[in-house]
Amino acid sequence: MGEVTISTQGLRKSFGAVEALRGVDITAHAGTVLGLLGHNGAGKSTLVHILSTLLQPTSGSATVAGFDVRTQSREIRKRIGVTAQHTSVDGRLSAVANLVLIARILGSRPRDARRKAGELVDAFGLGAAADRPARTYSGGMRRRLDLAMSLVADPVVLFLDEPTTGLDPVSRVNLWEIVEGLAGNGTTVLLTTQDLNEADRLADRIAVLSAGAVVASGTTADLKEETGSRSVHVAIDHAEPAQAIAALRLHGFQPTQEADERRLLIPVDASADLARIVQILVAADCTIENLALSEPTLDDVYLSLTSAGRGASHPTRSTA
Ligand SMILES: Nc1ncnc2c1ncn2[C@@H]1O[C@H](COP(=O)(O)OP(=O)(O)OP(=O)(O)O)[C@@H](O)[C@H]1O
Ligand SMILES: [Mg+2]
Repeated sequence: MGEVTISTQGLRKSFGAVEALRGVDITAHAGTVLGLLGHNGAGKSTLVHILSTLLQPTSGSATVAGFDVRTQSREIRKRIGVTAQHTSVDGRLSAVANLVLIARILGSRPRDARRKAGELVDAFGLGAAADRPARTYSGGMRRRLDLAMSLVADPVVLFLDEPTTGLDPVSRVNLWEIVEGLAGNGTTVLLTTQDLNEADRLADRIAVLSAGAVVASGTTADLKEETGSRSVHVAIDHAEPAQAIAALRLHGFQPTQEADERRLLIPVDASADLARIVQILVAADCTIENLALSEPTLDDVYLSLTSAGRGASHPTRSTA
């Protein structure tokens, strides 16, 4: 694994009586994506703001790219890119002009700034609209321009605060591919999201933040294992539910009938169980009308973490 590029120890942040962060410990390595999952108000943006030196922590410590967030903000700012939750695009300027402006602010010569802007406009599929004012762009195009702007300085560490909110499925996948490419080239990406599937696809490790504390961390596989709430939904011919239930029980599954009695819900451990269930039902002469495997969602992760009574005090398996 690459060097440690983000590290926090006991990080706290209070806004008056509101404790936005209540002692956060996270670690991320070069060339990896750390997914920070959490519901509204969990503290994701607050953590991103502290790490990008826009806010000072109340207590605790943190380093980014090896520099201290309290005392070395200038060093950090040279080495990071930030795509904030709220856009920093200037709507009066075109994509190219926005990008050139950032590059010039960062100290590039005009010619280098234009070259960099051209490369990023192409990489983000903004070529056709590159010279129109950004206020005429769709939400997805603005989001892509936002991300392009955070990459002008070739950052060592990139912070993406809910980067795919409001993107259509195609733009979302495009953005995922860009993020994967960046991590592949050694960039550390800290990405906040409320979407477990996004974290699943992109993140090497995940930290789940709830009410300002990390309540679980590890790989997506770790978290799913911990929740264990995958299930198969199967609809069978109306004459056969009892037969299907008996056959499944015989093989160790615990099906329950849903409100519509032809529909069974079967908790499973692994996706291989899907094939076993089909085999069992076919062997029992049941006609399958519909079949689906549902993955745990962020809600399931939360639910399992809190319903087990572990909550914020639950020891994490390993640091993220
Ligand atoms: N400047 C501020 N002044 C007062 N309270 C704040 C401030 N910024 C954040 N908070 C509070 O801190 C908590 C964490 O907010 P934060 O924006 O970090 O959450 P988040 O996880 O990013 O949520 P979202 O998913 O809605 O973006 C919330 O209770 C919020 O109201
Ligand atoms: Mg936020």
